[in-house]
Amino acid sequence: MIARDNLKVLGIESSCDETGIAIYDSERGLLSHTLYSQVALHADYGGVVPELASRDHVRKTIPLITEALKQATLKRTDIDAIAYTTGPGLVGALLVGAGIGRSLAWSLGLPAIAIHHMEGHLLAPMLESPAPQFPFIALLVSGGHTQLVEVCQVGDYRLLGETLDDAAGEAFDKTAKLLGLPYPGGPELAKLAESGDPTRFRFPRPMTDRPGLDFSFSGLKTFALNTLQKEQKLEQISPEQLKADIARAFEDAVVDTLVIKCRRAIRDSNTKTLVLAGGVSANQHLRKRIDEMMQKEGGQAFYPRSEFCTDNGAMIAYAGWRRLQAGEQSPLKFNATPRWPLEALQRV
Ligand code: KG4
Ligand code: ZN
Repeated sequence: MIARDNLKVLGIESSCDETGIAIYDSERGLLSHTLYSQVALHADYGGVVPELASRDHVRKTIPLITEALKQATLKRTDIDAIAYTTGPGLVGALLVGAGIGRSLAWSLGLPAIAIHHMEGHLLAPMLESPAPQFPFIALLVSGGHTQLVEVCQVGDYRLLGETLDDAAGEAFDKTAKLLGLPYPGGPELAKLAESGDPTRFRFPRPMTDRPGLDFSFSGLKTFALNTLQKEQKLEQISPEQLKADIARAFEDAVVDTLVIKCRRAIRDSNTKTLVLAGGVSANQHLRKRIDEMMQKEGGQAFYPRSEFCTDNGAMIAYAGWRRLQAGEQSPLKFNATPRWPLEALQRV
């Protein structure tokens, strides 16, 4: 057991299509971080190919660890502990990071800690200054998750609502694909939406007319497809403008829906602090609308810097430190947990 404050933690993230490595120092903060994105590798297939993802993590993890140590001017033996993502995510991809992390820790005689990927996202805004204070409401919006969570402490999570079908990021990616945009579509669609006319189409705001904090985004891509096909036949708008207008209507609908549900969660819980994390929280339109809403509610929203909204090693190193300094560590045996509810975690 190592319950001490001064720790240098190496974090390894490999749950999907990004290999992220970082070194977090509990006294000096983030010392270095390196990231390799597999976007180009999967682009031809229009989505992540799990086997290719695993093989690429095998190729990239060790060189990225070496690079992160170099950036921080540290040697392997300067590291005090190793944190690695063990779920949720792609089983093969997770096993690469967990296998390398666990065996490296064993070979160096260091403690190791297995981290839940979404806990990493959730705590990522704490790497910023000012950092949010507990308790808060978190909106986790990534390619695989859309969840509203009441957060009382590290590991003390209560799920308030989640998507019943597609995650917000998944809906962005699928809608982008049907508009002919390259993978991964979320940021591409957001870029296209900037030139769209916000008054041309109005998409539904799913599940906002009934109580509760659940979401449903799968109908929006069908709405986008139907609009595209109908308008293409009418030929009243140029094909480029039509796609931009649909992108804008889609983004407005997702953003509006997320803002409405966040406001509801804030009011229900009487909390004035909202944290946004996960890939979709990089969306500038969403941030602006959330900030406006929180200002009206007399509260404040916190986000990770843009590069830490999507997958990265820094959030895993940080989450690892929070758990290690509370005295936790994982056994020598490791496994991957592709499905792992956030609520199953223990409070530190
Ligand atoms: O957190 P993340 O990197 O991976 C998962 O854990 O899923 O999130 C990736 C998701 C993708 O669906 C991507 O399209 C979406 O986040 N995304 C965005 C933006 N940047 C990334 N969606 C909308 N607007 C963006 N600017
Ligand atoms: Zn993620």
